[in-house]
Amino acid sequence: MLDVEEIRKDFPILNRRVKGRRLVYLDNAATSQKPVQVINAVKEYYEKYNANVHRGFHTLSQEASELYEKAHEVVAKFINAYSWEEVIFTSGATESLNIIAYSYGLKHLREGDEIVLTVMEHHSNMLPWRRVAEIKGARVKYVDITDDGKLRYEEFEKAITERTRVVAVTHMSNVLGTINDIRRIAKLAHSVDAVIVVDGAQSVPHIPVDVRSLDIDFLAFSGHKMLAPTGIGVLWGRRDLLEELTPLKTGGGAIKDVTLDSVVLADLPWRFEAGTPNIAGAVGLMEAVKYLTRIGMENIHRHEVELVEYTLKRMDELDRVEVYGTRDLMWRGGVVAFNIKGLNHHSVAKILDTMGIAVRSGMHCAHPLHYRLGLKGTVRASYYLYNGLDDVDSLIEGLETIIEISETLSSIGVSDVCTAG
Ligand SMILES: Cc1ncc(COP(=O)(O)O)c(C=O)c1O
Repeated sequence: MLDVEEIRKDFPILNRRVKGRRLVYLDNAATSQKPVQVINAVKEYYEKYNANVHRGFHTLSQEASELYEKAHEVVAKFINAYSWEEVIFTSGATESLNIIAYSYGLKHLREGDEIVLTVMEHHSNMLPWRRVAEIKGARVKYVDITDDGKLRYEEFEKAITERTRVVAVTHMSNVLGTINDIRRIAKLAHSVDAVIVVDGAQSVPHIPVDVRSLDIDFLAFSGHKMLAPTGIGVLWGRRDLLEELTPLKTGGGAIKDVTLDSVVLADLPWRFEAGTPNIAGAVGLMEAVKYLTRIGMENIHRHEVELVEYTLKRMDELDRVEVYGTRDLMWRGGVVAFNIKGLNHHSVAKILDTMGIAVRSGMHCAHPLHYRLGLKGTVRASYYLYNGLDDVDSLIEGLETIIEISETLSSIGVSDVCTAG
C-alpha cells in the first residue's frame, strides 16, 4: 500500500479537525483535496507570472503563455494523447461533455439516428445527449446493468446497430465504482462507424487511462477530482474529429482572422478555448498531474482496491449494512455505496459528520441508476491516495455506533430519529 502518513503531510487540510475529531475525508468522488505542491504552484503563478495568454509580446504574457501551453503538453502525456493539440481545457467534465454532445451531435446526428448510453451514467453524460437527441430527432437507448452493477455487455451488442452514431459511457461509475471495459465497447462502436465518448471524471484521477490503447474518440474529465483546483477540466478528442467540428463557443482567442463577413478559426486546441481561459487552474492541473505521475497511477489504483477490499470485508461483518456493486475487484475502483437497513442515508451521513467523517449521501447525480437498483439513495465513501486503513476503521466504528444507538432507541420504544425514507 502507499505510505499514507508521508502523503498526508502534503495535504494541509487533512490536519483540520472537524467537530473536534481528526478529519476523515471520504468524499473524493465529489472532489479531492489539494496538495501544497498544487496550492503553491497557483500562488506562484499569481505572484510571478500573471498575465493574459496569447495576447501580448511582453515578458509576463510570454511566460504565462508558455506555462499554459506546457500544461496542455503535460496533460496530453498523462493520457497518452497523440498530440498536445488534442487537449482542450474546459471548466470541467460537465462542460467537456456538453461541448462534445452539442458540437458532434448537432453536426452529425440525423432523424432516426441512435445514441447508446448506459443506465449508470452520471447526469452530465446523459442529459446533454438527451437534449441533442430531442433537437435532432434522434433516439437514445440505454444499456442495463446486472444487479451487482456491471454493464450487461451482451446488451451493447444488441443496442449498437447500423443506426448508432454515438456511444457515450462512463469509464468508472461514481456510485458503484464499477470500471467498464471500454476497449470492448469501443470495438463494438467502431464496428458500425459510431464514435465512442468516454466520461473519465472518475477514472482519470484514479487509474491509468491511455486514450490510444483504449481506442476511444473523446474523453472528458475534471481537474478538481484529481488534486487540481476547481474550474479546470479537459476535453480530449482525436484530432481528425476535432478538426471537422464547429466549436460551440467562439470569440476572442479562438480565431486567426475576422472580417465583417468571414472568420478563420485558430488552430487546435485554441479554436475551442474562446475567451480568457483559467490559466491558474491549468497551472494547478499541470502540478497535480506531476504529483500523481510521481506516485504512479497503477500504485494509486492498487492502493484504493486494497481499501475497498478491506471495507467490504468489514462491512460484511455488520448485519445491517447493505453494500452495492460488484465483488469482482478486477473491475472496481475506490468507491463504496451502501445503506444501513432501516435508516435514512442522509441521517447516516449527518451522524458520521459529527464524528469528523465526510461522506456523501443521496443519489449522486445518478438518479436513473438508483431507480434501477430500487434505491431512494445511498451513502457513498470514496477513497484517494491519502486514505488509509485507519480511515476505513473510523468509518466502520462510526457505522457500529450508529447501529448501536438506533437499536438502543428502538429497544426502549423510542421512535427512531433516522428511519428509512
Ligand atoms: C462520472 C462523472 N461524470 C461527470 C461528472 C461531472 O463532473 P464536474 O461536476 O466536475 O463537471 C462527475 C462528477 O461527480 C462524475 O462523477
